[in-house]
Amino acid sequence: MHNARMSLSQHATNYTDTTFFVQSYAKINLTLDVLGKRPDGYHELTTIMQTVDLYDTLSLTATPDGSVRMICSRPELSNDNNLAVRAAQALRRRYSLSQGVVIELHKRIPVAAGLGGGSSNAATVLLALRDWWQLPASTDELHTLATELGSDIPFFLYGGMALCEGRGERITPLASLWPSSMRWLLLLKPAIGVSTATVFRNLPASDYTNGTHSRAVCTALQNRRELDRADLHNGLERGVLANYPEVVQARDAMLDAGVPLVRLSGSGPTLFAPFADLASAATAQKRLHVQGYEVYLTRAIHPQQGHIHFY
Ligand code: C5P
Repeated sequence: MHNARMSLSQHATNYTDTTFFVQSYAKINLTLDVLGKRPDGYHELTTIMQTVDLYDTLSLTATPDGSVRMICSRPELSNDNNLAVRAAQALRRRYSLSQGVVIELHKRIPVAAGLGGGSSNAATVLLALRDWWQLPASTDELHTLATELGSDIPFFLYGGMALCEGRGERITPLASLWPSSMRWLLLLKPAIGVSTATVFRNLPASDYTNGTHSRAVCTALQNRRELDRADLHNGLERGVLANYPEVVQARDAMLDAGVPLVRLSGSGPTLFAPFADLASAATAQKRLHVQGYEVYLTRAIHPQQGHIHFY
């Protein structure tokens, strides 16, 4: 098993006896091959994920009453179904704990957007509470809990760039291979939410591939070959474009704004566009912003490595 982010203290912004602040990063899917449907109803995937510096902030406060409570800046997420609450409850159950925690969640990552926000929050809670409560949880144990909570959650125990297989839970880190031609990432979130389950349910077998796109990109990254449009495949993109006209409109607006390459992240609806230089990315961002689009200028980030990155 590879090293997960062993400690969150490096990027906790404050640490006291009773409150712990921590950042929880979004991801994009650089590639996504859907290999086929499995007997358990999930789809077999081969995908390359990368964390980006768009993040939610979680504040964890000890509570003496033994409860787990969520207060979210988006009230519709302030409930026990929130993956962050379920992650805390899963740890309490697994280790028979009586400690309670109030989780305040400042949401910045768009919801139901293909950016893994909820999954990231859950992984962050698992890592933070393991540190804070000094639990004897090995990386493998945390990985098992994460997999039970959701397919994307194990990736966020690692962060950075990784090849994710199976349901998404088999993780091979691809350390520091992010290409310089993709130094800046423009993310555009169309004004709709998309259900991952619906996208997978509607996916025809004709959109299945055998994983070659993701594996070819791994090889290209290892050989430091620059990636082009043909390399970046997302097997969910055709179906999402066919069913959500808002995503087509947003993609066309990005192309009209001079973006060289646009891809869907995960099951969408967020689209991403890589840039080698900040000026071009910022110009495109401004053009899209004045048209009323929700756009974020970000970059690839490895949370474990603090604030200096050598991508
Ligand atoms: O695992 P998670 O709960 O995040 O997945 C949400 C939904 O997305 C699943 O219920 C399933 O319908 C679909 N999914 C899938 N194959 C995957 C991951 C998710 O079909 N590998």
